[in-house]
Amino acid sequence: MEKEFNPFLVTGYKHADYFCDRKQETAQIKKHIANHINTTLFAIRRIGKTGLIHHVFNSYAKNKKIVCLYVDILGTKNLKEFTNELATVIYNRFPEHQGIGKKIIAGIKLLRPLISFDELSGNPQLSFDLSDSKRYEKTIQQLFLFLDSQNIQIVFAIDEFQQILEYPEKNTEALLRTYIQSLKNTHFIFCGSNQKMMHELFNNAKRPFFASCSNIHLDFIDKKIYADFIANMFHQNKRKISSQSIDFILDFTCCHTFYTQYFCNYLFASGGKNIQLHHVQSIALEILKLNENTFYQYRNLLTMAQWQLLQAISKEEKLYKAHSKAFITKHKLGTSSMVSRGIEALLEKELIFYNTSVETPYYETYDKFLMRWMQHK
Ligand SMILES: Nc1ncnc2c1ncn2[C@@H]1O[C@H](COP(=O)(O)OP(=O)(O)O)[C@@H](O)[C@H]1O
Ligand SMILES: [Mg+2]
Repeated sequence: MEKEFNPFLVTGYKHADYFCDRKQETAQIKKHIANHINTTLFAIRRIGKTGLIHHVFNSYAKNKKIVCLYVDILGTKNLKEFTNELATVIYNRFPEHQGIGKKIIAGIKLLRPLISFDELSGNPQLSFDLSDSKRYEKTIQQLFLFLDSQNIQIVFAIDEFQQILEYPEKNTEALLRTYIQSLKNTHFIFCGSNQKMMHELFNNAKRPFFASCSNIHLDFIDKKIYADFIANMFHQNKRKISSQSIDFILDFTCCHTFYTQYFCNYLFASGGKNIQLHHVQSIALEILKLNENTFYQYRNLLTMAQWQLLQAISKEEKLYKAHSKAFITKHKLGTSSMVSRGIEALLEKELIFYNTSVETPYYETYDKFLMRWMQHK
């Protein structure tokens, strides 16, 4: 029997059919594109930033006037690697033998890249062997200008953009800003999962990108909408799932996209045709057991005090008053300054995050499965 397709994706993007909601954010980004405004996407990790970019791009799939380019620069360490990524993405996006593609490929080749083939995907990879970083700066500018002069509208998404802050070439930010500013037909979506660095890049008045983009904040998917989506995915595959079960899942994952997708993927794979509350409860325990090794690895990264604080925050679920006497004594956390230091460390290691997109901000454990596991301990 042919294996059934699991509609709950835990990596990448396939099709709008498997993508839940984000209607308003999609419309907003498209509006920016139509009005030639650059966008920055802010959100915590694994909530669906990258997915949303692909969803927006997918909506232009049949539009011949707009060309969408996506580059993830997380793996790049310097301006040279950034240039190589950029050139590779552009090169692979255009068919070599047709109209505009022909021109673009010929243009890129004038910059004399070395072309090799990726061992895994077999796709061409471009790299430049230039003598100094000034030449890479020039190459980036030429790539952008060349694309921009083709009389097509280009949307360029640069994911994990905060990575440029790690480059030894400290002027990267300023020069990209300058190049981008001069383009007429090319518009950008910047996105990144390190919120602190992204805010520093775009919301610090002293930095080049300040006020250059329109910000979109990506929040949790609405619970009711997610519940309908989950029910639909099961129903379309001739399976039943009780609404109590769906409520349990969305509570368990706090509606966080990745954890919800993971849970539903696992549940779907388990094959039940008529899913009831006790099924999802036992699946939840299975998932926690399966991830236990990862949780112990987290523990090795922390001091005992930090681990205890993380456990306390997990138990609270939403910690509004980190310095209150009640919280500190309830969990035997020592002094207020110890808690302060611990919170700094946990934020730095991205094991917790500070949710400021609500009226009263709070601290919360990032990994929802770790949070539930700690609550069980
Ligand atoms: N709206 C959505 N509906 C269904 N699945 C989604 C949605 N957004 C993201 N996902 C899935 O959740 C996971 C995490 O999303 P991703 O876009 O990688 O997060 P981020 O870029 O914010 O870290 C991915 O595997 C993706 O397939
Ligand atoms: Mg991402």
